[in-house]
Amino acid sequence: MPADSILYTETRIGKLTLKNRIAVAPMTRISATEDGRATDDMVRYYARFARGGYGLVITEGAYPDVRHSQGYLYQPGIANDEQAEAWRQVVDAVHAEGAKIFIQLMHAGALSQGNHWQESGIAPSAVQPVGEQLGFYRGEGAYPMPRAIAPDEIRQLIADFAAAAVRARAAGFDGVEIHGANGYLLDQFLTSYTNQREDQYGGATENRVRLLVEVSEAVRRAVGPDYPVGIRISQGKVNDFHHKWAKGEEDARVIFGSLGRTGLDFIHVTEHDATEPAFGGGPTLAELAKRHGGLPVIANGKLGDHDKAAAFVEAGHADVITLGKAALANPDWPKRVAMEEELADFDSGVLMPLAHIKESER
Ligand SMILES: Cc1cc2nc3c(=O)[nH]c(=O)nc-3n(C[C@H](O)[C@H](O)[C@H](O)COP(=O)(O)O)c2cc1C
Repeated sequence: MPADSILYTETRIGKLTLKNRIAVAPMTRISATEDGRATDDMVRYYARFARGGYGLVITEGAYPDVRHSQGYLYQPGIANDEQAEAWRQVVDAVHAEGAKIFIQLMHAGALSQGNHWQESGIAPSAVQPVGEQLGFYRGEGAYPMPRAIAPDEIRQLIADFAAAAVRARAAGFDGVEIHGANGYLLDQFLTSYTNQREDQYGGATENRVRLLVEVSEAVRRAVGPDYPVGIRISQGKVNDFHHKWAKGEEDARVIFGSLGRTGLDFIHVTEHDATEPAFGGGPTLAELAKRHGGLPVIANGKLGDHDKAAAFVEAGHADVITLGKAALANPDWPKRVAMEEELADFDSGVLMPLAHIKESER
């Protein structure tokens, strides 16, 4: 009986108790106002997942500052008090339906396709991103050439992440997730081919993970010891799906080991399929995160089948699972699965021609 499975048992992330282990993955839906305030559509969209039984909702990536972090036009931010205030309605609606909610803090770096506030396009190094801009987020053609971020801007960016986390806590969010994955700024630092710096942030893996460590530590210091904070890590990127860490498990040891010592409460790993080996054989990325990070692990990637996801958690590879496309198709996945009702297949049409929240999702 699915309803009796481990997915429907309580678990803890830091001091926070989740009623089950089924969470919504962060998904950018470009449905905020032009200046990045959450809208009524977003309130209804997020409340729907909470009503559907998910124990935790992780929001789409919100930009932390009104400098270079915004990635997409109509993306929400948490960069000023107006934006934080607008999120409060989302938080309250999700809480009213009995779920917890984390906000994802995302700096797009070189993958920025639109910024309401300033010219964007900063990166660890002036390396043009591979791949093409995302059409469903209003992008077209190649990514522009970014400029390398200066040392004083790095200090500012760390402070901006910390300030955004403090705003998130004040707005009522139950925790924050730092976006260190999918090819965005922090992952650009982690990735050897986009990071060609010769200072302490470039070179060996220990150096390339340094900014992620410093952001994690700064956020932790800013919000205090008891507030849930985690980071999302991936190998693949929105503009380079098949990227793998060059040193395989050795990189995993350094990356997860370093992050595990920063005072974070969880590591969220995402792979194309969470249950497949990270490096062509051997352990999954989630197992490596657990082994070397020593923290609760949230796993993502093709976990929309109940038995597959439950077996993965049962085996101790992850503590919580997040659903992306399966959640879009089934905003009530936890309830449906518990009642043994049939699940809907994901229809990519819901993200076309643009990825904004559709009438049917409110
Ligand atoms: C429309 C859409 C938007 C996404 N936006 C984000 C995002 O803002 N932040 C993030 O970390 N991942 C984002 N992702 C990736 C998902 O969180 C997830 O990793 C991916 O969908 C794979 O998981 P799945 O197999 O359960 O769908 C997005 C995915 C989709 C489909």
